[in-house]
Amino acid sequence: MSQTLNAAPANGHGMGRALVVGGSCAIGQAIARSLASDGRQVTVTYHSSKAATTAFVKEHKLMEAAQLDISADRAALESFVLRDKAEHGGKVPNVVVFCAAGIEPVALGDMDATVFQKHFDTVVRGPLFMIQAMYPHLEPDSRIILFSSALARTSAIFDDRYALYASAKAACEQLTKYLSKTLAAKQTTINAIAPGPTDTPGLRAQARSNGTSQSVAEAAQAGDAHVARLASLAPAKRIGTPEEIASPVRFLASKEASWITGAILNVSGGMCVYG
Ligand SMILES: NC(=O)c1ccc[n+]([C@@H]2O[C@H](COP(=O)([O-])OP(=O)(O)OC[C@H]3O[C@@H](n4cnc5c(N)ncnc54)[C@H](OP(=O)(O)O)[C@@H]3O)[C@@H](O)[C@H]2O)c1
Repeated sequence: MSQTLNAAPANGHGMGRALVVGGSCAIGQAIARSLASDGRQVTVTYHSSKAATTAFVKEHKLMEAAQLDISADRAALESFVLRDKAEHGGKVPNVVVFCAAGIEPVALGDMDATVFQKHFDTVVRGPLFMIQAMYPHLEPDSRIILFSSALARTSAIFDDRYALYASAKAACEQLTKYLSKTLAAKQTTINAIAPGPTDTPGLRAQARSNGTSQSVAEAAQAGDAHVARLASLAPAKRIGTPEEIASPVRFLASKEASWITGAILNVSGGMCVYG
């Protein structure tokens, strides 16, 4: 008889609680809204955008906004997990999404230990130590979702200033695959979403990252041109929306996705297809 990861009884707190790390960005907010629409209580974290995130939480009647620096040291990340657990009836969230990034492209000559560490701390080390701290407390049937990028597997879309970002995302994919073995013992799945270019303020800001100062109008124009260039490379001649990234996250967080773990889901509208 086959045994499903979902075989354990439901965790006993309805749809449960979701934690969206990086819930202040456009994709994080779309994810938070979609998980809340399934009846979950949603905590979103911000790093620096406190006012905007608090307003977002209020507008969409989410549970709360919490400050978190995912690049903090291991002890600080563990403290966050234990404090969050204590504040929520002794339970860690049963859905955790790591989508913080906010990384600027950087040329080879400007790469130093600090820049290197920032990339890998945000995308790999932080999620790893958060998962490590949560592991003893995970309820059966929990879901962990990491964020990779199409750039983890292709160098065709962007220039070499994305080398560190792409490398960190590739490491995040391997983390997803290997941790799936350990987490299966807790009937918990872990998967990663690999979006192609998605229309967010973060993506539009990349057009401003060439070091030249621009007026607001020039920056908006540069953002539009960046989106248009990327759209021209896509089969559907457009790029994705945050909601189109949130939909597969919602599915991976659902009970229906109980037998999917260690998977990297390519969500790029066919722009970045690989075997
Ligand atoms: N947009 C795309 O085209 C695209 C494509 C592929 C993959 N992705 C991935 O999708 C995810 C979301 O992308 P996005 O474009 O919506 O947003 P983004 O601009 O890449 O990410 C910004 C988010 O990261 C948070 N953040 C930055 N540094 C942090 C830190 N040290 N600790 C905790 N949080 C931190 C920011 O918080 P504050 O605002 O509070 O500082 C914000 O919520 C990212 O993982 C990104 O790599 C995006």
